[in-house]
Amino acid sequence: MTSLSSETKLSRNSFRNQSFGKVIDWHPSSDGLQGRSAFAYFKLSVYSEGIIRVQASRFSSFESNPYSVIVEPKNTPFEIEDFGKQVELTTSLLRVRLHLDAFSLSFFDSQGKLLNQDDSLGICWLGTEVSSYKKIQKNEKFLGLGEKTGDLNRAGKAYTHWNKDYFGYGVNDDPLYMSIPFYLGVHDKGCYGIFFDNTHKTLVNFGASTNRFVYFSAEDGDMDYYFFHQPTLEKIISDYTWLTGRMQMPPKWSLGFQQCRYSYYPESEVHAVANTFRDKHIPADVIYLDIHHMEAYKVFTFDGEKFPNPKAMISRLKEKGFKVVVILDPGIKVEKGYLPYEEGVAQHLFVTYPDGELYQAQVWPGWCAFPDFTKEKARDWWAEKMKFYTEAGVDGFWTDMNEPASWGQCTPNLLEFDFDHEGASHRKARNIYGLQVAKSTQEGAYMGLDNKRPFVLTRSGFAGIQRYAAAWTGDNTSSEEHMLAGVRLVTSLGLSGVSFSGVDVGGFAGEASKGLFAPWMSIGAFSPLCRAHSMINTKDAEPWAFGEEVEEISRNYLKLRYSLLPTLYSNIYSSTHTGLPIAASLALPYSQDDTIYQQAFQNEYLFCQVFLVAPVESFKEITKVYLPEGEWYYLYSDQIFSGKQVIYQDCPLNYLPVYVKAGGIFTQQSVVMHTDSSHDGLLRVHLYRGKQDAEFLHFEDAGDGLDYLQGAFFSRKFQYQAKIGSLKIGTSEGNLPSQYSKLRIYLHGFDLNQVQVDGKLHPVAYEDYTFLDKLSEFDPLPERQHAFHQISALPFIELPHLSAETMITGLK
Ligand code: NOJ
Repeated sequence: MTSLSSETKLSRNSFRNQSFGKVIDWHPSSDGLQGRSAFAYFKLSVYSEGIIRVQASRFSSFESNPYSVIVEPKNTPFEIEDFGKQVELTTSLLRVRLHLDAFSLSFFDSQGKLLNQDDSLGICWLGTEVSSYKKIQKNEKFLGLGEKTGDLNRAGKAYTHWNKDYFGYGVNDDPLYMSIPFYLGVHDKGCYGIFFDNTHKTLVNFGASTNRFVYFSAEDGDMDYYFFHQPTLEKIISDYTWLTGRMQMPPKWSLGFQQCRYSYYPESEVHAVANTFRDKHIPADVIYLDIHHMEAYKVFTFDGEKFPNPKAMISRLKEKGFKVVVILDPGIKVEKGYLPYEEGVAQHLFVTYPDGELYQAQVWPGWCAFPDFTKEKARDWWAEKMKFYTEAGVDGFWTDMNEPASWGQCTPNLLEFDFDHEGASHRKARNIYGLQVAKSTQEGAYMGLDNKRPFVLTRSGFAGIQRYAAAWTGDNTSSEEHMLAGVRLVTSLGLSGVSFSGVDVGGFAGEASKGLFAPWMSIGAFSPLCRAHSMINTKDAEPWAFGEEVEEISRNYLKLRYSLLPTLYSNIYSSTHTGLPIAASLALPYSQDDTIYQQAFQNEYLFCQVFLVAPVESFKEITKVYLPEGEWYYLYSDQIFSGKQVIYQDCPLNYLPVYVKAGGIFTQQSVVMHTDSSHDGLLRVHLYRGKQDAEFLHFEDAGDGLDYLQGAFFSRKFQYQAKIGSLKIGTSEGNLPSQYSKLRIYLHGFDLNQVQVDGKLHPVAYEDYTFLDKLSEFDPLPERQHAFHQISALPFIELPHLSAETMITGLK
């Protein structure tokens, strides 16, 4: 019998492990070196001093992901040295040693310390599956990987990247909606990062079921990863976000409180919710329209009965200072006469089977077709269609179900995608579908919003998603463990380039108890994105729906968030340049402190660099908090604690444990009810006495639009020098005057009567200060009276807010 042609090419052995093998040829290239074994090809490319890309393929041309990395290699000096059995490639920060006998790599820092080393198996194939095996270093911890559940330190666990619609996921379940295969390794000798840039289903195993190695594998495609090294994790994240892009400045209103519900309707309910915020003096900026705004869940429609005049409704809401965000689901109902469907078919915009038949699956509207967002024409079409909403006055867009989700949750792998002319099956395209939905939606927002800043909130995404959208962590549950797991999801996203993210405050599925909603809201106030959401057919879940006590606690924390907007906005601005998180796990600045990885402390994080937040279950009255090195002030009372110790902290429902770093600076304004309303023109600057120097960049602009890119902003640096006891307020930059005519500088931890301002004596005044209002003693009285903290006789000085440099001395 003659054999089939496929049998001549494949032997059954090709499904056993096949190593890269001995390097038989190599040569330097313009940005690194490349070569081959008898079986495969490799390439090392220097992207910058601290970034080296490693590619390995069984084919002579390498395959890459066109969607995540947005830069070309920088022109970086490097050296190549040939040592016979090994060859070394060296930059000013990194040295890579390639062992030629059996392709394997070792990475060293500039002092020769070993950062990361391949296992002797190096890079291998198993059928189409490709893997890179790495030795585990002593005391090695693994962080990041984006939206992944589980512990802060991911050692001993394995994670899959395959975007999934996962209603009511458990706090250890994997995978969820978004994939970011970028992780950080920390051990005794240093730190590094690895971004595994392969869009197929991938696995990263940090030592689950094996003590020999950690490894990462892709079902298909090439081995393609970027190795990062810098002296700090912060710098590695900055490098990663240089490679995959950074968030664009969001509109200021998106930093306000966002109220969502599946779903608010009809129009009268939307107004009632908005009015209640204003009547009750609870600050808020955004109200969401979930899927019931549509006619039969068809995107680009409004339900004429529920919302007879959306434009008028949105304009009335705007008068009250509310922006409207609408949900956008990618599934287009298959229905004759429904224009988006007809256009999609006529223009070949939808995903198809390999034989050209339209792919259909069921989502909310019933059987749907799915725009191929990896096709430019389809992205442009979607962006254009969004005018339906922008013309009605919609300001923000919420891209849901973009994994893509469908009932059955098992999209066939043979489906065809354009992949921007490269062509790809669902196996390769799935993980980037959500990223491209977000990209196209951001484009639509730019087009329709007349140069305003887009706000896009996405559920799904891949590495680089921060360029297009903020993220939320999908359908969580109203439980204590979800509240804390959500904190880790947000901080893990922050370690992976996504600085603007949040969870559904209160929990989406289920119903939060009074006790749970209050602390969750306070954590929400200290989150980059602060949005409450809840599921259809559950009890109301707005801040007033849990009784007066919870309402007051929610109001208190939202007022605090709004008063801290100058700090948050400035930090968001900095993050657009650095890529650093707004909510940063303590592992970021204190990666070498083993205590922070302990279960009891792994949820602690730094918000806007100065606030250490220690989230705690609602049933606890007292909790242990670990304060890392330095000194820390309890926010509400200014009680000082030295660091590197565990303290016991009272944690009544009305006080989220928050500490300010000694030597920290942040700014505050008077409370406003929405981000567009006027404050009192006084910028409160809080300086906390400490032994360490501190710097804070204050940034203001119009809060929307793109003029700030042309210089329409006001910024200045506040620099505290602990040893000499000075605060320098730098010369302002930008073309705008400040919105604040006066500065009041609060001097926490200082005991003084006068300071010198530009060499002249300046008196110090005192006032009692509170960050949170006293709660009412309700009738009937709660079991115990509410704790109340204030800072007595806090020293401060007041100055006009000028543009010229001001030097304050005598801060001892
Ligand atoms: C699933 C989303 O995760 C949820 O937030 C939304 O409310 C529902 N879809 C309905 O649109």
